Amino acid sequence: MNGASKGFVECRNIGVVFGSGDAQTEAVKDVSITVQPNEFVSLIGPSGCGKSTLLSIVAGFAHPTRGVATLDGVEIRKPGAERGVVFQQYSLFPWLTVRKNVEFGLRMAGVPSSKRISSARTLLGLAGLLAFENHYPDQLSGGMKQRIGIVRALATSPQVLLMDEPFGALDTQTRAVMQEILTNMWQQFRISVLFITHDIEESVFLSDRIYVMTSRPGRIKAEIQVPLPRPRTAAMTDTKEFTDLVHQLKSLIREESLAAMGSELGPEGVAGFGMEVGPGGVNNIL
Ligand SMILES: Nc1ncnc2c1ncn2[C@@H]1O[C@H](COP(=O)(O)OP(=O)(O)OP(=O)(O)O)[C@@H](O)[C@H]1O
Ligand SMILES: [Mg+2]
Repeated sequence: MNGASKGFVECRNIGVVFGSGDAQTEAVKDVSITVQPNEFVSLIGPSGCGKSTLLSIVAGFAHPTRGVATLDGVEIRKPGAERGVVFQQYSLFPWLTVRKNVEFGLRMAGVPSSKRISSARTLLGLAGLLAFENHYPDQLSGGMKQRIGIVRALATSPQVLLMDEPFGALDTQTRAVMQEILTNMWQQFRISVLFITHDIEESVFLSDRIYVMTSRPGRIKAEIQVPLPRPRTAAMTDTKEFTDLVHQLKSLIREESLAAMGSELGPEGVAGFGMEVGPGGVNNIL
């Protein structure tokens, strides 16, 4: 396998059970997924279906109860510089400047100072944040912080980028801009991405392929190819091809969300209990 084709992630028959005895939770059941080198793959599914658990296993933060996760054929046992991770919550070090945050992984890898600074500045330039290199994270907006989080994850030249709802905390407009920035950066870096989102439009816009998970215990319910051309543009979101895919995914997810909550709510709950609340509001029925 040559350098250009690295970054092949494979999860084979992954099962995860948390706790023991009465407190046991089967979070993930027999999940097999792949991310090909340079491929952008999203994982979507109802809350609590095990998406973050799977990503943590690929990141090396957690271990499966059954099955195995590999990167380029080698079992993943712990975190490594060849896998960059970006979470929803901004995980920048508040006491370091923006540039020092980006340099952090390179410093840990023993890269000399001059090389660290030039790499960090190049990446910050790509993300449009060079003017803020000496600012501290608290002085930046949420969108800026998350761009720095992505840049920091890319600084050590990982083969795989693992992202867990990275734009979940951003407003719609910022989010749309971040999606375009991410597709552009991904095209330049040509790395494999495993991306978790609750936003179905976002998953279609960004991905080559999407795995839909069932409600807990999470299994793979469907695997959907996204045949839209690259580069992706905002205008594509209005095409029939795009909206058809979104529609298809939404109905798959709705089935699962209802399955997940339906057992708790029952049919009356899903139907809003059929209650007439009336002009007096909720006081009328309590
Ligand atoms: N460390 C843990 N100990 C016990 N149970 C856990 C642990 N981590 C996750 N779980 C349980 O495993 C299931 C899957 O959790 P996970 O966080 O992977 O879901 P998710 O798909 O990422 O959900 P969300 O979309 O809400 O982020 C949940 O039922 C959760 O309560
Ligand atoms: Mg999660």
